[in-house]
Amino acid sequence: MTTNRIMNHPVLGKLENRKTVTFTFDGQTFEGFEGDTIASALLANGIRQLRVHEETGAPRAIYCNIGHCFECRVTVNETDTVRACMTPIQNDLKVESGKMQPAPFNTSPENWPRTYAEYEERNKANKDGDSNV
Ligand code: FES
Repeated sequence: MTTNRIMNHPVLGKLENRKTVTFTFDGQTFEGFEGDTIASALLANGIRQLRVHEETGAPRAIYCNIGHCFECRVTVNETDTVRACMTPIQNDLKVESGKMQPAPFNTSPENWPRTYAEYEERNKANKDGDSNV
């Protein structure tokens, strides 16, 4: 397994005895350790870019790593908007990077959603093809 990990940590111990899992990211097969998140398994394999910005196409990666910022959105087994930093890796998981999508709302600041619930509602309406929300 390619690794960017600390394999023998003075406090956490050795990683070498951990069970490995196999998963794919954008069609390429990787290994991670049981207990890894998708983000940590990808980082250990040298993958930093998880998606691109919806409007600009700029590369995006983990930012907060605690589930708050949603910068790490990926598609997992056909389910999009999955946070890679919060989702444990599993055997045979099919992970795909976030692709450039149409913006879920008008990008003028005065039209930005004021709550996450409002963002989700608009995003769902956008996916359902309802442009009136
Ligand atoms: S990196 Fe912030 S939610 Fe995953």
